[in-house]
Amino acid sequence: MQMLVTGGSGFLGAGLVRELVAQGHAVRVLDDHSRGRPHRLADVADAIEIVQGDVRDAAAVRAATDGCEVVWHLAYVNGTRYFYEKPDVVLDVGIKGALNTVEAALDAGVRRYVLASTSETYNEPTHVPTTEDERLMIPDITNPRFSYGGGKIASELLALHLGGHRGLEAVIFRPHNIYGPDMGFEHVIPEIVGRIVDLSEGLTRDRITLPIQGDGSETRAFCYIDDGARGARIAGLDGEPGGIYHLGTQHEVSIRALVEAIGAALGVTLDIEPGPLRAGGTSRRCPAIAKLAALGYTPAVDLTAGLARTARWYADHFLSQRP
Ligand SMILES: NC(=O)c1ccc[n+]([C@@H]2O[C@H](COP(=O)([O-])OP(=O)(O)OC[C@H]3O[C@@H](n4cnc5c(N)ncnc54)[C@H](O)[C@@H]3O)[C@@H](O)[C@H]2O)c1
Repeated sequence: MQMLVTGGSGFLGAGLVRELVAQGHAVRVLDDHSRGRPHRLADVADAIEIVQGDVRDAAAVRAATDGCEVVWHLAYVNGTRYFYEKPDVVLDVGIKGALNTVEAALDAGVRRYVLASTSETYNEPTHVPTTEDERLMIPDITNPRFSYGGGKIASELLALHLGGHRGLEAVIFRPHNIYGPDMGFEHVIPEIVGRIVDLSEGLTRDRITLPIQGDGSETRAFCYIDDGARGARIAGLDGEPGGIYHLGTQHEVSIRALVEAIGAALGVTLDIEPGPLRAGGTSRRCPAIAKLAALGYTPAVDLTAGLARTARWYADHFLSQRP
């Protein structure tokens, strides 16, 4: 099948593109490379088409959608820092990107439209492990942080009730903390590795005090990129029209345990020092993944193995930047 992947040179997008190519699909990528890096696709470069363009540009989206049977919409502004610093751009890309891709898909006779949403749409879930029928919410409209989750809620509405209502097979997956080497720098794992490398003077000290945000009791469930990319492909291609699927693992860990595991992967013992927590964060998050599991998905990489690869990749990067 001919497919379009917006955000295809991004972290999850590139993994998904490789999955699709491995299954024999013809893939076109539309990305402005603002955070995406085409080198992530170097190993499949001969098998795909990469178009540099902005999802806010309706004409560029239309041209890229032409001839496609499936559209995957992943392009979005990620990174917690940006939700606070440029909520206007987060919403501009979020809302126009979703509207342009849904409308182009409808006009071009695309069969299936797959949207990457997020666990952030739940804010503080009412039950954990959280099921897909959980209510979505914006707890404080004045907090710019919710530009991210708010834009995704609007994108879901557009996918289901503009695209789906007018005949697209709309499918949504909500990723929960996908991680791995080369995931970008505005995430908890690279930030912790960077601070450990600095405070340990380039990993030359084997015990350090590490200040963290909050007391580390908040929880998340982390999913390695290979599992994330495979799960996204399964949800998108095998999910039922109108279906919503969690993407992640059910292995819930505290941030404290995560930080200690990163220290262990780098050979540094950490004395963790709790600090203030930023407003708008969520105390507990872990998805129920039974719906995706019923389609044949099982996460294969455990946290210790995935963290070892990821922490080492970032440590090598930060060490090479040190004078
Ligand atoms: N990685 C995760 O844990 C996670 C969690 C929840 C949701 N998601 C969602 O999955 C998708 C992929 O996330 P990711 O981790 O790969 O992030 P990413 O930032 O690596 O990928 C996003 C891609 O979108 C591109 N992009 C941004 N603005 C654009 C624009 N105006 N026009 C065209 N391209 C643009 C970026 O260059 C980048 O390649 C996103 O929609 C994200 O919100 C990811």
